[in-house]
Amino acid sequence: MKYTVTVFGLGFVGLTTALAFAEKGNKVYGFDIDNERVSMIKSGKLPFIEPGLDKALIRHIDKNFTVTSDAEDAAKNSDFIFLCVGTPCGENGEADLKYIYSAIDMFWGVLSDDKYRVIVVKSTVPPSTTSERVTPYLEQKGLFNRETFSVANNPEFLREGYCWDDMMNADRIVCGISDEKGKHMLQSLYSSFDTPFFAVSLNTGEFIKYLSNTLLATMISYSNEMSKVADIIGEIQIKEAFKVLHLDKRWNGCNMSSYVYPGCGYGGYCLPKDTQAMYAKALAKGYEPMILKNVIKINETMPEFMADKIMSVSNKEDRIGILGLSFKPKSDDVRDSSSAKIIKLLIAAGYTNILAYDPIANEAFAKAYKFNGVNYYKRLETLCEESDIIVLATAWDEFRDINKNYKAKKIVDCRYFLGGDTTCHF
Ligand SMILES: NC(=O)c1ccc[n+]([C@@H]2O[C@H](COP(=O)([O-])OP(=O)(O)OC[C@H]3O[C@@H](n4cnc5c(N)ncnc54)[C@H](O)[C@@H]3O)[C@@H](O)[C@H]2O)c1
Repeated sequence: MKYTVTVFGLGFVGLTTALAFAEKGNKVYGFDIDNERVSMIKSGKLPFIEPGLDKALIRHIDKNFTVTSDAEDAAKNSDFIFLCVGTPCGENGEADLKYIYSAIDMFWGVLSDDKYRVIVVKSTVPPSTTSERVTPYLEQKGLFNRETFSVANNPEFLREGYCWDDMMNADRIVCGISDEKGKHMLQSLYSSFDTPFFAVSLNTGEFIKYLSNTLLATMISYSNEMSKVADIIGEIQIKEAFKVLHLDKRWNGCNMSSYVYPGCGYGGYCLPKDTQAMYAKALAKGYEPMILKNVIKINETMPEFMADKIMSVSNKEDRIGILGLSFKPKSDDVRDSSSAKIIKLLIAAGYTNILAYDPIANEAFAKAYKFNGVNYYKRLETLCEESDIIVLATAWDEFRDINKNYKAKKIVDCRYFLGGDTTCHF
């Protein structure tokens, strides 16, 4: 069965979701409040770099997928309303739900007619948000009639850099549901995806997403803490030690082992805010999760640990070449990037000669961080030649051989990446 779907928020998750449903033959409307983003998408261009998604956009724009400026009308005609808006970190680490509420404000008025709709929170929200925040928000508006709508959540597990492939070939679809009708509709919508479908309680759906992200953050912080322990003891070959750890047959060669590897801390849009939000939610419910508390603390110390390493081998007048600006390779997302934190610390310490290069994220970085005195380079080779110290901050494959190619230069490898075959996913 084919449906009509409206997606609020056309970022990594929303645009991918919208195009995936369009690819499966549904009629999809997309709505976003960011006009610049909307005009780009309307003209068939992605607002970020994502392999495969670019072609999907060209295939479906103005066919199965329409970017609309009338969110209410789109929602009126839809069987499903997906909320894929941002859920940033609030003042005390909690998930800030302002965009969820503002999206609901745009369509709740249509929910009192006789058409049945499923409202699906796809944004990452802490366990109990759909039941204790979203549903009461709708009820405050006088919407109690569950005969005509259902509220659900459907957390997303895609990875930036692999959005399209992860969405089309997901390993699990999780739906937190509040009633049988919503469950059947979601099952039917997802039936064209060849993926195991799990219908669970509302709180469980949300919890599964946080299990995933907080575990990844924990593995990274564990590895980072152990790298600091190794560093202080001394004479420990950190890269080799972790690579040998990965040879344990119980890992079975799985990609997940790449998260059990040290670096300069996790960044990006999801792990930092989601770990904070889970910690804040548990605290608000009366339990302090000690592991998460320390996962966050260790992560916060990593940029400083790396900045200290850089300062220990350089002077303030030295030209410091930063390689990699995105929060991870294969992405131009610079949100919460470790490179930005390291550059900030260097500038605060009086460093004035900072050179920067990223294969795709120079522009996004310069726009997001208005650092004075950072010179952006278009060529890796020029940056390396002109730097006194080279700092590898993001593990892009094209940086793999810089230690061989620039033997005379001092290199600080913040990702324990050089001289090996490490794959780094964060
Ligand atoms: N990026 C990831 O890798 C990823 C993976 C899984 C889950 N998530 C979660 O999915 C959600 C979205 O993440 P993202 O990376 O796509 O964010 P994003 O910042 O790329 O996109 C969010 C979009 O929502 C829009 N928006 C805000 N308020 C709106 C409103 N009222 N109506 C319509 N649009 C509105 C913004 O303009 C923006 O374009 C977050 O909760 C995030 O934690 C992200």
